[in-house]
Amino acid sequence: MEKIRSKFLLNPEVTHLNHGSFGACPKPIFEDYQKWQLELEKNTVNFFVKQGPQLLRQSRAALGEFIGCNEDDVVFTMNPSYALNIIIKSFPLKAGDEILGTDLEYGAMDRTWNYYCGKVGAKYVQQKISLPTFSKEQIIEEFFAGLTKNTKAIFISHITSTTALRLPVEEICAIAKEKGLITIVDGAHIPGHISLDLATLQADIYTGACHKWLLTPKGCSFLYVKRELQDLFDPLIISWGYESDAPTHSRFIDYHQLQGTRDFAAFLTIPKALEFRKNFDWKTVSAEQRKTSQANYQRFAEAANGMILCPISDDFLGQMCSIRINCPDFEKLGATLYNEYKIEIPVFPHGDFVYTRYSFQGYNTQAELDTLFAALSEIRSTTNLLG
Ligand SMILES: Cc1ncc(COP(=O)(O)O)c(C=O)c1O
Repeated sequence: MEKIRSKFLLNPEVTHLNHGSFGACPKPIFEDYQKWQLELEKNTVNFFVKQGPQLLRQSRAALGEFIGCNEDDVVFTMNPSYALNIIIKSFPLKAGDEILGTDLEYGAMDRTWNYYCGKVGAKYVQQKISLPTFSKEQIIEEFFAGLTKNTKAIFISHITSTTALRLPVEEICAIAKEKGLITIVDGAHIPGHISLDLATLQADIYTGACHKWLLTPKGCSFLYVKRELQDLFDPLIISWGYESDAPTHSRFIDYHQLQGTRDFAAFLTIPKALEFRKNFDWKTVSAEQRKTSQANYQRFAEAANGMILCPISDDFLGQMCSIRINCPDFEKLGATLYNEYKIEIPVFPHGDFVYTRYSFQGYNTQAELDTLFAALSEIRSTTNLLG
């Protein structure tokens, strides 16, 4: 573990248990990022105009191989919000149409759906998923109870944000396709965290963040759209790729790759990130950390007087665990953990409840979780922050 930890730039004075929010980038990948930035500054025009498209293609190809899709069906975006805004802004919605989602989705995406649905009189339906949940079947049943004759698409997180639950997206997409619905998956937490194969997953549209679990620098995410649907979506930024004077073989790439002048160095780090994974046998690291993460879930709940949210198994959990807590002041609890114990962990509200979630990335140790549990126990016995 020390060998892995030494590769990261993380401040050693802080216990970092929040990889899930913005990730952390190891030194060799960060150096690769800076290398590309230097290349750009040394020969700007050549880099933007000539090398850039080719380098981006290579990076898309490497990513495509990793996630199971063709390089021309995936484009880089800064973040999943950007990717989903491309989709939601152009989604062919009319008055009365419905988009079926859950009440566990990421707040920024809820806002985006509500904004664009509101413009045309369509409805974003947030189906309640009971917590704790007990089985995949229960989630699937609760989700599809929201289906009506007006449903046009489903929208679902592969791993949810505040509640850190792996939802049965494989099964849900298969059922949705049988019903003729478009399937849109928010996989912000998936690349590098749990395996992803877009060739078998029946997702028409998928976004993932690479700067979280795939360890790239910030600002590297992707949007995948199945070939047959690509023409539905306009660029979010109209630039030279729209009605291009020199169109390439892919309108999808032309539309979404050209955005005006921007630093796309982070997009180019995918091959290095994949090489890093290989060098450190990251699949094994990840599997071991997932095991330890899950083995500590119940203790987490006990320390904080909270509630676990699902059965403890790979069906529901990756390397993040979230509990529901009785906390009258979530901001104060988060600040206490950080200021007094130097523990970085999110404490956040979702719906009517407050949750806290640890991430257990390759650089984390059991000792760090023990530190967290001791802090929570002490806070519980000395304050009223954990009822
Ligand atoms: C489930 C989920 N979707 C989407 C996002 C969006 O990320 P961003 O705000 O970087 O676009 C996040 C971020 O953590 C997330 O957890």
